[in-house]
Amino acid sequence: MSYTAKIGPSILNSDMACLASECTRMLECGADYLHLDVMDGHFVPNITFGHPVVECLRKHLGLAPFFDMHMMVSRPEQWVKPMAAAGATQYTFHLEATSNAGALIKDIRESGMKVGLAIKPGTTVEVLAPWASQIDMALVMTVEPGFGGQKFMEDMMPKVSWLRTQFPSLDIEVDGGVGPDSIHKCAEAGANMIVSGSAIMSSDDPRSVINFLRNACMEAIQKRSLDR
Ligand code: DX5
Ligand code: ZN
Repeated sequence: MSYTAKIGPSILNSDMACLASECTRMLECGADYLHLDVMDGHFVPNITFGHPVVECLRKHLGLAPFFDMHMMVSRPEQWVKPMAAAGATQYTFHLEATSNAGALIKDIRESGMKVGLAIKPGTTVEVLAPWASQIDMALVMTVEPGFGGQKFMEDMMPKVSWLRTQFPSLDIEVDGGVGPDSIHKCAEAGANMIVSGSAIMSSDDPRSVINFLRNACMEAIQKRSLDR
């Protein structure tokens, strides 16, 4: 099995006026990567930030941190080059937002970034399958994208299990309402990249929450490898 458990805090519900220090705090608490939520007020009914902010974050945080850009935008084609230039590591776009995923995947790769492919709760997982061999990560949304702090949708777990069975070494991410109460469901289904926003951000001990999430995931990975 080639994948490992990784925890990526979402800074959506952090103090956005102190974004760089909030990111640094997460990395110091053991975050494996940063999940950065880009919203355009069109694909989702909310606005966050774009590539100029990512460029500033990269300058503040240095080259090492992995930036997973969750692009909740219409026309994701538009931001590939600006995000690559700003220092994004992975460009995770929504399958619902494009009519030419193949060309977009190629463009992202040629720009030097990894490729993530996301689906909203209403999208069936089978539509992801044709792209699975061309992407680095599949993101199964466990809330309707747009806002932090929503309730985890357990009924998305069959999508994760299906992907894990079909694509045993693919990185599979879950995002939305994930925290200590829901992590076991995600881990058992086969998710290995865990986005968690409010559960980490609202805790007075984020390090413990991150460790808890990672341990739950690692245990499930070990169990799966023994079962094989
Ligand atoms: C929702 C975002 C998520 C969100 C996660 O649209 O994509 O990344 O910030 O936050 P929680 O964990 O609070 O649901
Ligand atoms: Zn997200």
